[in-house]
Amino acid sequence: MKKIIVNGGNPLCGSVDLQGSKNSALPILAAVAAADGISVIHNCPDLTDVTAALKILEHIGCKIKREGHTVIADSSCANRFDIPESLMREMRSSIVFLGALLARFGNASVSSPGGCEIGLRPIDLHLNALRNMNVQISERGGRLNCKAAQGINGGNISLSFPSVGATENIMLASMSARGETVVTNAAREPEIIDLASFLQKCGAKISGAGQSVIRINPPEKLTGAEHTIISDRIVASTFMACAASAGGKIAVSGVIREHLDPIIPVFEAAGCESDFNGRELIFKAPSRVSRVKSIRTMPYPGFPTDSQAIVMAMLAKAKGTSVITEKIFENRFRHVPELVKMGADIRVEDGCVAVVEGVEELHGAKVTACDLRGGSALVAAALGAAGKTVVEEIHHIDRGCEAIEKSLTALGADIKRE
Ligand code: UD1
Repeated sequence: MKKIIVNGGNPLCGSVDLQGSKNSALPILAAVAAADGISVIHNCPDLTDVTAALKILEHIGCKIKREGHTVIADSSCANRFDIPESLMREMRSSIVFLGALLARFGNASVSSPGGCEIGLRPIDLHLNALRNMNVQISERGGRLNCKAAQGINGGNISLSFPSVGATENIMLASMSARGETVVTNAAREPEIIDLASFLQKCGAKISGAGQSVIRINPPEKLTGAEHTIISDRIVASTFMACAASAGGKIAVSGVIREHLDPIIPVFEAAGCESDFNGRELIFKAPSRVSRVKSIRTMPYPGFPTDSQAIVMAMLAKAKGTSVITEKIFENRFRHVPELVKMGADIRVEDGCVAVVEGVEELHGAKVTACDLRGGSALVAAALGAAGKTVVEEIHHIDRGCEAIEKSLTALGADIKRE
């Protein structure tokens, strides 16, 4: 079993390049299946979730070549619309292939994704939207069989919650719809804009991505395209939280400043300073951060749920008490008992509120990553803890952070993978 070992206590210092965004790469790779032709995707991070998405593309008949961070995909020979359970299980986000396969083949057969480590993650919003687009859906033996026998219809789709995955599935399914599709209360995350930008290069006409109402007009034929994935704002916040936990000054290159707007105020309230030099972030952290009175996770442009755990790790050692409310996912405090093993004083109230009483010092411990961001949080806490921490089950971290130990070594951390 792979683990990460950290000897904490060194302030961080140095510079690191930011990887491409996982949450952009996955829907864009699904969009490759909807297109017919060759796509060249640059800045594609080397992550197990991305490998899982590429395996799905290969399974449906695409030819894939990976050269460093560039993926060259020929989808012209794609000829199947089923995704076996074994591939679906590797990555919950594979549900986004549903819309893409429907657009390409008018048919899709996938297994129900079920629950995952951070909560139930239902897909009712995805399925209701697709039904409104004239897709017939039946569920049998854990499989979802979807068919648009009379073709996919555009029209107005209103989401009761701005779900990222549902917005992406609607955008993808609409690529072969009759007429315009208008999504109201759409997710506004930067990854939605990135998907729209790729689909536009493939020939679609899309306006309003990044706002609450998106208008989509598909082309006659969706072709492949060349695209560079945006950088990963959540991994940027991970490096910031690591520096805030350990203290020090780091440079992160490749950031997109506006994507960090929901995150920076929280770090500033903790006493950290951020300066931008074009696409480089210079981030300075005090030797001990201050508490942040209240943080509440929200859909973009609110504070991201994906940064909640790592910021909690930073606040575990803050001067004073911080309160973090998690309202996006119901099971996203699984890192709390692990942080407590390291000496943190955190109590969870009503399942969705964490009261973090900052302690003067954390100490090393043997801890277990329970999910992707929770695992990164343990690494962040370990960097600021006295002594040795062993983080187990690091396959969760590898789903979203590319070789985290290499980036942190470049920042002067004493960290290794075993
Ligand atoms: C995406 C991100 C994930 C991030 C999340 C919220 C990817 C690959 N993953 O996940 O990292 O944490 O956005 O920013 O991009 N919901 C329903 N019914 C649905 C769909 C969602 O009730 O049909 C609920 C979910 O259970 C959750 C909330 O809506 O409580 C947000 O989910 P959603 O925005 O869909 O997140 P994902 O697309 O799964």
